[in-house]
Amino acid sequence: MMANLLKVDSLRVRYGEYEAVRGVSFTLGEGEIVGIVGQSGSGKSTIAKALMGLERVADGKVDRADVSMQMVFQDAVGSLNPRMTIRQTLSEVLCHGKGVPRRSESIDERIARLLGYVGLSAAVLDQYPREMSGGQCQRVSIARALAFEPRILVADEPVSALDVSVQARVLNLLRGLRNELGLSILLIAHDLAVVKNVCDRVYVMQNGSFVDEGPSEKVFSSPSSEYTKNLLSAVPDVDRALHQRRRCV
Ligand SMILES: Nc1ncnc2c1ncn2[C@@H]1O[C@H](COP(=O)(O)OP(=O)(O)O)[C@@H](O)[C@H]1O
Ligand SMILES: [Mg+2]
Repeated sequence: MMANLLKVDSLRVRYGEYEAVRGVSFTLGEGEIVGIVGQSGSGKSTIAKALMGLERVADGKVDRADVSMQMVFQDAVGSLNPRMTIRQTLSEVLCHGKGVPRRSESIDERIARLLGYVGLSAAVLDQYPREMSGGQCQRVSIARALAFEPRILVADEPVSALDVSVQARVLNLLRGLRNELGLSILLIAHDLAVVKNVCDRVYVMQNGSFVDEGPSEKVFSSPSSEYTKNLLSAVPDVDRALHQRRRCV
């Protein structure tokens, strides 16, 4: 049996009178990639923020078994300090932040290891975020998250701001990290094609609740809710593009 690193039970989150998350339950197992998909405004980011302790949990339980968790955001460029080179950004986390030292590695060795995880060359180290592509910035922000040696990565729309071809590459990177580091990933997206191709299991969210859940193939081949069926019929183009890209890489 796969151990659950994260277990969320009947989570509710409110903004004043408005209940954005209405009693959702889900699990994330060790080395698993689990998707939460739903339209904009359905409550996905609110779940992520509640998990990270950035929003107050009104009711329900979040059991994270004492494991470290880091978050990656949609706006990778904006999440990096524009006045710092990539070397400075990563050094800051490793030297002054809560980046976890490992063995007897020097800072430079640790930076090299982080770049290796995300498939960036050392050439980016002296660049500023504005000199890099969106995909490269997202790789840097993933590397920065990995500096904390998390067991769980919460990725909130990590590819939504990227071109479709770049999306596929960043998604493949996430899958590689799961395979190589045994990372567990909660992948949040509004685009069904994104989760369909990457996630082991998926939860479909509508208006603060889950309306479908299960192994990805099952949810997408025989969706049980009308909502999922409608989502599925709305995204064939992106899905096809992802498949085409993967075939020619
Ligand atoms: N800080 C906030 N204050 C009030 N309402 C909010 C706040 N953040 C989000 N909401 C509302 O909560 C709902 C869910 O938002 P969100 O979790 O961001 O959805 P998603 O990430 O799925 O697009 C939306 O109706 C949104 O307008
Ligand atoms: Mg969101």
